Amino acid sequence: MHQDIESVLMSEAALQKRVAELGEAISRDYAGKEILMVCVLRGAFIFMADLARAITVPVSIDFMAVSSYGASTTSSGVVRIIKDFDEAVEGKHILIVEDIIDSGLTLKYLYNQILSRKPASVRICTLLNKPERRKAEVPVDYNGFTIPDAFVVGYGLDYAEKYRNLPYIGILKPSVYGEK
Ligand code: IMP
Ligand code: MG
Repeated sequence: MHQDIESVLMSEAALQKRVAELGEAISRDYAGKEILMVCVLRGAFIFMADLARAITVPVSIDFMAVSSYGASTTSSGVVRIIKDFDEAVEGKHILIVEDIIDSGLTLKYLYNQILSRKPASVRICTLLNKPERRKAEVPVDYNGFTIPDAFVVGYGLDYAEKYRNLPYIGILKPSVYGEK
């Protein structure tokens, strides 16, 4: 285990198993349809790559980047689109792929943005969910894991751009971000 990790919350095997289950559920629900998967950069990139391969209906993929916390562990509530997606949204079945929903502020903004572009449908798939900290309600259609209120990294998730390459999800030692 990495020295900055307090404990492993989801092992590599547990992540793989859950992603396969999500892929099956999504493939069943979208039978006969095509999905435009929209990855919210950067945290969802690994989840997106694995999830796309677990889905058996036709998919296209696109990427969107929004402002993140920077080197802080709480949301500013200010959301900025840094990279908009390239594909047309109108008439398509959009599946937003997120790494984690915390306050919900980021996703709420994104969800409304996408809705205003007249898609055929919009659903949200998040790997992790911290419902205790929710400030803005968003409809979560697919949820990988509900987790306690702790700052987690790995499998795409970062703290100050680090730890994204850990193959598991772990709780970061609070001493790393300056809390004793
Ligand atoms: P929200 O707007 O507060 O829901 O923030 C969502 C975004 O904050 C996520 O997409 C992550 O990029 C980031 N985030 C929230 N909690 C964590 C965490 O525990 N570890 C790493 N990133 C997080
Ligand atoms: Mg994110």
